[in-house]
Amino acid sequence: MSEERRKTYYITTPIYYPSGNMHIGHTYTTVAADTMTRFKKLTGYDAYMLTGTDEHGQKIERKAEENGVTPQQYVDKIVENTKELWKLMNVEYSDFIRTTDERHVKAVQKIFKQFYDQGDIYKSEYEGQYCTPCESFWTPTQLKEGKYCPDCGRPTETVREESYFFRMSKYQDWLIEYIQTHPDFIQPVSRANEMINNFLKPGLQDLCVSRTTTKWGIPVSFDPKHTVYVWIDALSNYITALGYTSDDTSLYERYWPANVHLVGKEIIRFHTIYWPIMLHALGLPLPKQIFGHGWLLFGNDKMSKSKGNIQYAQPIVQRYGADSLRYYLMREMPFGSDGNYTNEAFLTRMNADLCNDLGNLVSRTTAMIEKYFGGAVPAPDAYEDVDKALIDLAEALPNAVEKQMDALQFSQALTEIWKLVGECNKYIDVTQPWVLGKDESKKARLGTVMYVLAECVRFVAVLIGPFMPSTPERIYAQLGVTDGALKTWESLSAFGGLKAGTMVKKGEALYPRIDVAKESALLADEAEKWAAAFAAQSGNIKTPAETKAPEAPAKAEKNADKAKELPEGCIGIDDFAKCKMVVAKVCACERVKKSEKLLKFDLDIGTEHRTVLSGIAKFYAPEDLLGKSLILLKNLAPRKIMGNESQGMLLSAFVENPDGTETLRVLTVDEAMPAGAEVG
Ligand code: MSP
Repeated sequence: MSEERRKTYYITTPIYYPSGNMHIGHTYTTVAADTMTRFKKLTGYDAYMLTGTDEHGQKIERKAEENGVTPQQYVDKIVENTKELWKLMNVEYSDFIRTTDERHVKAVQKIFKQFYDQGDIYKSEYEGQYCTPCESFWTPTQLKEGKYCPDCGRPTETVREESYFFRMSKYQDWLIEYIQTHPDFIQPVSRANEMINNFLKPGLQDLCVSRTTTKWGIPVSFDPKHTVYVWIDALSNYITALGYTSDDTSLYERYWPANVHLVGKEIIRFHTIYWPIMLHALGLPLPKQIFGHGWLLFGNDKMSKSKGNIQYAQPIVQRYGADSLRYYLMREMPFGSDGNYTNEAFLTRMNADLCNDLGNLVSRTTAMIEKYFGGAVPAPDAYEDVDKALIDLAEALPNAVEKQMDALQFSQALTEIWKLVGECNKYIDVTQPWVLGKDESKKARLGTVMYVLAECVRFVAVLIGPFMPSTPERIYAQLGVTDGALKTWESLSAFGGLKAGTMVKKGEALYPRIDVAKESALLADEAEKWAAAFAAQSGNIKTPAETKAPEAPAKAEKNADKAKELPEGCIGIDDFAKCKMVVAKVCACERVKKSEKLLKFDLDIGTEHRTVLSGIAKFYAPEDLLGKSLILLKNLAPRKIMGNESQGMLLSAFVENPDGTETLRVLTVDEAMPAGAEVG
């Protein structure tokens, strides 16, 4: 194998249904794939990322009809919006495959024919429950009360339809053996057992792979009244995009087998059962890994149009930039687990991680180099232990990050990077440059401290690039780094690349502080406008930019109008609704050093942990409240108290004692109440 071949990396996203515009859930997978691709490119790989759209089927046919356009017109518009969204998210895919592309259609026809010729596909009859007005077959689990069409509610009939079937059962034992002998093939590992025990061992049914009732599909070349049904069409995209079966198979030869298919957990089954069997039947190698990630929930619920709880990426990115959202998506939940999106959680994280931790580090470092050294990065003098500890951490960081990335643990990789950010901020507190700056004899020491900080900031800038592609350049501009060689992975192999004399220039705050309560109301308002515009689009297929923003006044303004009518001293229900209160379980509690009043809590609020400082140390010992369920006002803007960020406020009341003194009691609730339950 040549050196060049050894270093390729091929990653894919699912191809999304363009039945509607892509939301933040689709954005999640695509950003993950882009982050990984960028990381592999940074570390020297020839990385290739594929995404695209899965455009055939009855649902699209129907959507188009509702809109009075052809299916092709319908999907063209959604695909245009999708590509715009990926551009907005700074996603640099290598190719975008559409299942309506001629290259795909031709290849699928050849693949289908090969299966038929070699006896993997046979013609038979499909028997199922059919709704004539909707022209749809429904599976027993989809039917309402075992009989009625889930779309129109009318009774269905048992109908037989001529169909082609794939002999899945033939490959079942081979696949069980393959999965068992390739423990990395399905990730997370728990999914592999699920596939074997729930689907493979009970026995695979042959799969229906053609329809005569769906016109919007790829015609079976040798029997054109049939169209190819769903999975053979969709899954093949991963190889048809590389030119498999075409005149030019160079991409296929270069990149197949894929290193990883990223998929949401609901489609793991198709990727780990049907796809390997199809590939095996074609005599092709299998992808090295299928990674089934968790769902991004919206307010603890799966996003769905019918529930009306869809969050789009656009309003968030327009207000805060793509890097902030990319950071949140990759940081908030371990890849593989479900997680939640809420405006408050997003904004709180921006404040804590991007504004406080990273932003402050960059601005403190550049401001101090300007103040004490006229902007020129000083040369370091002898390193002391405290410097060496930080340097060791920085030097070990690239490996630690790579290890996490190779396991697709984006969130952990960011945690590793933020460890260095956090340690740098602590280092400033410990070395106290402002004290050194007052003493001319400590100038050399001050120079060392400043150099260590500036070089650590450079390390951080290089490492965050795959996650937040626009932020490194903003940091380099402030650090005065112009030499491309100092922006590479290789430049992190040893500490000390940054040249003394480099001129820093403190710029604007990288991530200005956000007023969480105010911004989350505004963001909710913007999100509503986008959702309305996208909903309107199913009527006229226009982008929000083309669609006139809803005429009605924005919600915030409406609320302001209502507030004017309230009796003096009263608040309206909308004002109260702004206070987000939840049940919080005390996981840990300790006294804050050097403070008589403060207790520091680690609180579990269901979706995350919060650190909260409360001035109740006179009334409670830390152990008094351990394990108790309290009420937290969670959207109070975070505040820094004695070097700790307090992320919310615990509700409490003063109680009068018989002797006339007062005691403060924290409000507790029944311990059976789950952490995160909303109060109000
Ligand atoms: N067309 C099929 C996939 C065929 S792949 C050969 C399909 N399309 S889809 O539009 O429904 O997209 C599903 C994928 O979008 C999920 O597997 C996941 O990657 C992403 N997500 C959609 N909603 C999501 C969340 N709420 N959370 C996380 N990912 C989500 O299935």
